[in-house]
Amino acid sequence: MFKRIIAISIMALACIGASAKKEQSLNVVPRPAKVEFGKGSFKIKGANFNYGKNVPAEAVQAIGKLADRLYVATGKSSTVSSAAGTDKDSATGKLKGVFFFCDPSLPAEGYSIEICPKAIKVCAPDKNGFLYALQTIRQMLPASVYSGGTDSKSSWRLPCCRISDAPRFSYRGLMLDCCRHFFSVDEVKKILDLMAMYKLNTMHWHLSEDQGWRIEISKYPKLTEIGAYRDGTQVKDDRNRHDGVRYGGYYTKEQVAEIVKYAGNLGITIIPEIDLPGHMLGALAAYPQLGCTGGPYSVWTRWGISKDVLCIGKEETFDFIFGVLDEICEMFPSEYIHIGGDECPKDAWKVCPRCQARIAELGLKSDEHASKEQRLQNYVTSRVQAHLAAKGRKIIGWDEILEGDLSEGATVMSWRGTAGGIKAAKKGFDVVMTPKDYCYFDYVQSPNLDKEPWTIAGARGKRVIPLEKVYNADPLAGFEPGTESHILGVQANMWTEFIADNATIEYMLIPRLLALSEVQWSPADGKDYDRFLKVLSGYQLPILKDLGYNYRPLD
Ligand code: ACM
Ligand code: ZN
Repeated sequence: MFKRIIAISIMALACIGASAKKEQSLNVVPRPAKVEFGKGSFKIKGANFNYGKNVPAEAVQAIGKLADRLYVATGKSSTVSSAAGTDKDSATGKLKGVFFFCDPSLPAEGYSIEICPKAIKVCAPDKNGFLYALQTIRQMLPASVYSGGTDSKSSWRLPCCRISDAPRFSYRGLMLDCCRHFFSVDEVKKILDLMAMYKLNTMHWHLSEDQGWRIEISKYPKLTEIGAYRDGTQVKDDRNRHDGVRYGGYYTKEQVAEIVKYAGNLGITIIPEIDLPGHMLGALAAYPQLGCTGGPYSVWTRWGISKDVLCIGKEETFDFIFGVLDEICEMFPSEYIHIGGDECPKDAWKVCPRCQARIAELGLKSDEHASKEQRLQNYVTSRVQAHLAAKGRKIIGWDEILEGDLSEGATVMSWRGTAGGIKAAKKGFDVVMTPKDYCYFDYVQSPNLDKEPWTIAGARGKRVIPLEKVYNADPLAGFEPGTESHILGVQANMWTEFIADNATIEYMLIPRLLALSEVQWSPADGKDYDRFLKVLSGYQLPILKDLGYNYRPLD
């Protein structure tokens, strides 16, 4: 067996000549883990595409899309057919055309691409591996493959090379806040397309807030009748003034299904977030009996953190939480459900007789680690965790859930910095790093605020995350040796208080999301910011422009 593998790899390497030109490089972002160049090139114009058995249907669909696109761009058609009878281990030299084979021995979501003058051989172990190989091949083609038109000038050749690629982190996320501002199904899809291009695999969808509830829940119709709309929106950083324009919207169950399916076809899992027990004014406006005072409450027209939160002394609150989460689980197949947990002021609980009675009944005490009200939040977290665990789901929450006690099996999203993540990993919890130091893409991209859109930086001091800071981020910095395996990955957060439209979201995301994709995907060594900038200006930003994305120009 060992000998056979050697023989194959020598044959397969035949086109990867020893005299590979060192200066060659690819425009691919995120930078692939390993590329070896050979001599010559493969002409993809008019090449036929073939897929072996066990290549997933979504991958075959994506192969078809690339073939269709190449037909329009090159004027020559390509067939897409099953190559079930073809041996994956055939030397590339014997194959003619583009071949896709399943290879379960490759790392999850990884792939290999071998390009020789007569053939391209792509191997991957799973759906995402194939989708990512296709993204890589696309980015190796002339930029016109993205533009939608015909390009008879380009030679449509790919350099002979061998790419062996796999992600550094299994969780590569983007959080989208559709509560502070609402984004249409098509707008969300456009962001998912962008994520897919750069091999992100998780969209964390922030769906409930003080400023609006955004998802249809059949058992609680007032959440969307009342909770999805506010009477105005804060004007810039003046918390005492709003524009008086009714604002809102929500996703129906049909729309959610459409988005989940669309994302799935792109290899993206959607993790829904119902933020609790704080950030709940949307729900309290609809069902005031769930709050400590009984209301009335209204959906907030200003930014910030409401002190009105769910009352934990009432069982009705848990009926509500579980009722909502049961429907959320029906809509989202994701293993993880995000339960928020951030910024929950304890003011209301401290003076609520029911919450205090619950604290007494549970025997919760304040100590040097946590107050009894904090431990009341732990109680909520662990009850919700148990409810979801019974359905085979895991909780993920903002790093506040770590304060006091957290039950085994929870995953912590470290946002206030890196300390929460470091502490969580040390205690044995899995962690997603999303520190505001380099992952908060609502912060501006330069200190020159007159040139940046009005964002949170204008409202609250100068919060600046330039492109280079994202590119050079090291998600494992500060972690104790041996705890790094708990770091599932990295996520950018797109909060939208000051971001009302897709053009601005795109401006804030691009090019920083491309830099983050290299942090999420590429090996830690081999970073080269100058090379990255050249790839952006020479290839990536022009293709994104052709695709209709807005972006912040490079400095
Ligand atoms: C957060 O930024 N409140 C998670
Ligand atoms: Zn209460």
